[in-house]
Amino acid sequence: MSYASVVDVLAGKVAVDDTVTVRGWVRTRRDSKAGISFINIHDGSCFDAIQAVVPAELSNYQSEVLKLTTGCSVAVTGVVVESQGKGQSYELQATAVKVYGWVDDPDTYPMAPKRHSMEYLREYAHLRPRTNVTGAVMRVRNTLSQAIHRFFHENGYLWVSTPIITTSDCEGAGEMFRVSTLDMLNVPKTEQGEVDYSQDFFGKEAFLTVSGQLNVESYACSLSKVYTFGPTFRAENSNTSRHLSEFWMVEPELAFASLDDVAYLAEDMLKYVFKAVLEERPDDMAFFQQRINPDAIERMEKMVNADFVHMDYTDAIEILQNCGKKFEYAVEWGVDLQSEHERYLAEEHVGAPVILKNYPRDIKAFYMRQNEDGKTVAAMDVLAPGIGEIIGGSAREERLDILDKRIEEMNLPAEEYGFYRDLRRYGTVPHAGFGLGFERLVAYVTGVQNIRDVIPFPRAPKSAQF
Ligand code: 4AD
Repeated sequence: MSYASVVDVLAGKVAVDDTVTVRGWVRTRRDSKAGISFINIHDGSCFDAIQAVVPAELSNYQSEVLKLTTGCSVAVTGVVVESQGKGQSYELQATAVKVYGWVDDPDTYPMAPKRHSMEYLREYAHLRPRTNVTGAVMRVRNTLSQAIHRFFHENGYLWVSTPIITTSDCEGAGEMFRVSTLDMLNVPKTEQGEVDYSQDFFGKEAFLTVSGQLNVESYACSLSKVYTFGPTFRAENSNTSRHLSEFWMVEPELAFASLDDVAYLAEDMLKYVFKAVLEERPDDMAFFQQRINPDAIERMEKMVNADFVHMDYTDAIEILQNCGKKFEYAVEWGVDLQSEHERYLAEEHVGAPVILKNYPRDIKAFYMRQNEDGKTVAAMDVLAPGIGEIIGGSAREERLDILDKRIEEMNLPAEEYGFYRDLRRYGTVPHAGFGLGFERLVAYVTGVQNIRDVIPFPRAPKSAQF
């Protein structure tokens, strides 16, 4: 018996008149008066379902085929024929239908074939991949992650797996989830009455990482061109459509590099992955264009051909102050930009992605390289029209004396950064890198409004299912 996926049959990879078996889940069943049933089967391999035409002559037609409902799992064996149906390339003339699993109670099956709200689907994170929308998002997500790895591989970067459990706070923002095996009701205390972490699993306080950057920097300072791509965690109480408590981050790090080097790297990488999605997932992108964002495909095409606009933070403040638009949050030099400001700059002022550079040092992390003016650091954010910040990066402070001063000024525990200081003590080099929020990228490409709908199992404040 030869098996084929839905995409193989629909794409014509199985010869007409050949017999194959397709396995998947029933999307719909329709019965004609002439005693034939039409079953649509999807298996996740592409956007479309395949139609199987099932004749009443099959031995289990009455007993099983006519009882199939949405969500049942089946194997349909049949002869591949060219389809007469509109928009269908090939279909199966079924010779056998095997039922793997029935749907307990079809009336209460949560994924009935109709349009559900994204909020509703979130309640069924384990079943929503059976819907058109989540299936399409996850295929695009997969294409994006494969394209990212391919981009770095083709450009000579090594993938470094940085740890998920860490002892240092990369961003210094104190937004870390603690990893502990201590008994919460009976926490050991030191003589000073503080929690005694020396009795904890790692013998010290440990956390889930907020970023792999500090670790990947050490590999850049040995292997030159590296990146890490993995889950990161933020115990940040931000209940917005752009924030997750667990999200994936792509973090390249490049030795002997400046801020501009990684700004151009970010642009090249984004264009590469947008192109990959346009080429590899036209079916899903057509669906997003029809259902979610009428501009989805043109927007990607524009991005592939656009020159990203580099802009200084100081110039951006002036633009925002003089644009005549009323913002909820006032703008003055020294403030962190809010999403309304970022969106204005990218969407309305420029109409293309903006790379905003040289931020005030006081609002940025300790590791960013100080500029000559003493007020700003060599940091950048990439702002995409329609979503705002998707990338944050910087040149790293490679001068030990300046780094030490910064760690002290910011009251960070110097003893936790010993390994980081070593990189500046032993053969230091200028280097730079960035972090791309992977779910923000997926949301941007698909046009899906809420970042919780582009990750399989979203985690957010007061929300963690399964
Ligand atoms: O700007 P961030 O905090 O930068 C860093 O963590 C650096 N250590 C990265 C580096 O230079 N290697 O985060 C980087 C990106 C943001 O631009 C945003 O896209 C995403 O990560 N991000 C989030 N995405 C979803 N939910 C959150 N809570 C996020 N916080 C940041």
